[in-house]
Amino acid sequence: MNLSTIQKRLFAWGMGQANDADVDRIKLIDCPEYQSLGELKRALLGNAQHQVLEIGPGAGASLAYYPKDIHWIGIEPNPFMHQYLEREAQQQGLANIELRQGTAEDLPVEDESIDTVVSTHVLCSVTDLETSFQEIKRVLKPGGNFVFIEHVGEECGTWTRKAQDSINPVWKNLFDNCNLNRETWKILEQVGLEKVNYYQFKLTIPLVSPHIAGIVRKKPVAVG
Ligand SMILES: C[S@@+](CC[C@H](N)C(=O)[O-])C[C@H]1O[C@@H](n2cnc3c(N)ncnc32)[C@H](O)[C@@H]1O
Repeated sequence: MNLSTIQKRLFAWGMGQANDADVDRIKLIDCPEYQSLGELKRALLGNAQHQVLEIGPGAGASLAYYPKDIHWIGIEPNPFMHQYLEREAQQQGLANIELRQGTAEDLPVEDESIDTVVSTHVLCSVTDLETSFQEIKRVLKPGGNFVFIEHVGEECGTWTRKAQDSINPVWKNLFDNCNLNRETWKILEQVGLEKVNYYQFKLTIPLVSPHIAGIVRKKPVAVG
């Protein structure tokens, strides 16, 4: 077993343990609409309908928040996550699930077939952010939503950003290509999805504190 395989196994095990974390205790700072990460996840994921595609679902930390009658497709490149995902889906009463091996940059999903694409703490890790957004847009039905909760880089010039920039090379090697300092919002703004809800806030966890979250929509087909 090589180092990368050991890391991926360990990461999957760690994410599996984290499923039991009480995210209602993770408080949001500077977010007047929602008090905790749990409240935010219930608000953003609780209305997903029909065909839901989650990219990088890890061990399934978001599965508890979906309505039970959706058809959920998970695209998870780390094969060691899959057993945790299946167990979590069963525990959460999600019967209609499909797991596919793949990446956000090359989604194994047909054009315009998905009602909601979900990403929580994944865009920090993808290899190519721009291509991932283009893929998300491709698979969404017109009028479909992209729902996201992501940690991002702090404003340039701040102490937090300086710390993120200096620790990032080591951090991303330790945590499966997770980048602390990505300016994800800048790329999102260029993709041509329209904002429905958009939140910027902080968590009380150092280095991964700055966050963006919300819903952006693919334009519906014009009628008439
Ligand atoms: C920090 S974990 C987050 C897992 C889960 N979304 C959550 O909120 O607990 C990042 C996840 O993104 C996945 N990932 C990494 N690179 C990816 C890529 N290029 N495409 C899709 N998923 C990716 C990892 O395998 C991992 O499951």
